[in-house]
Amino acid sequence: MGSTTISAVRTASRRRFLMCRPTYFAVEYAINPWMDPTRPVDPMLAIEQWEALRGVLLGLGHVVNLIDPVPVLPDMVFAANGATVLDGRALVSAFRHPQRAPESGAYEKWFRDRGYEVRCAERWNEGEGDHLAVAGVVLAGHGFRTAASSHAETADYLGRPVIGLTLVDPRFYHLDTALAVLDDEQIMYWPGAFSPASRRRLHSLFPHALRVEEHDAVQFGLNLISDGHHVLLPAPARSLAARLATEGYQPLALDVSELAKAGGGPKCCVLQLDRPPA
Ligand code: ARG
Repeated sequence: MGSTTISAVRTASRRRFLMCRPTYFAVEYAINPWMDPTRPVDPMLAIEQWEALRGVLLGLGHVVNLIDPVPVLPDMVFAANGATVLDGRALVSAFRHPQRAPESGAYEKWFRDRGYEVRCAERWNEGEGDHLAVAGVVLAGHGFRTAASSHAETADYLGRPVIGLTLVDPRFYHLDTALAVLDDEQIMYWPGAFSPASRRRLHSLFPHALRVEEHDAVQFGLNLISDGHHVLLPAPARSLAARLATEGYQPLALDVSELAKAGGGPKCCVLQLDRPPA
């Protein structure tokens, strides 16, 4: 008998994502601890890495829609932050930092032009970077970007209970750097990114969640895209990939070294436009 136990058979479901080509990607300012404008970034390599991510998603049968990149908005590649989309409704983000604030207008137009019901957030809210839908609720990070005072608006507009979670470590400034949704029931997170009260809340809501170590979290291992079976994650998070394999998922490692210099990984680059019914 082999030593690996596959605990479950996982099923992939087809997703539709919005992505933004990193044509104007650069690290020109520092709004999170990973960004260092003096450290060189290879813009061509960033585009290649982004194309590879898109290619893997398409190869798995997912649909990828594109929003045009806007010059002077170097972080627009991180499409997860543009809005939160559920059931055909788009809550367009209100960015915390002025450097990213103009992205909202581009997302608002994209959604309006395509017939979505659209609302523009009134309080700081960084979209699916801080809002993760799972098990009929929206987990909402706050503390660095999204304001706790935005949660009522999010719950009201999206029609789902919003569970606020306090982020306490500046390296994990968006929820999607500290917590990953693997399928509609299962989440995985690094407890150290959360306040003690939020850890207790997560534990009571998801007693069977997978918890990871700090060394995987700092590789952006949790900034992953899962379709319920395939899990796209940054290549350096090797032990996390091995763990996911023992849980029955199929990890697919990606090199996202250039995007990581802006504090992002694969999940930051996609905005999930629809998801299978819960
Ligand atoms: N440089 C970007 C920022 O600080 C990175 C955003 C990463 N996005 C995410 N969903 N975690 O806003």
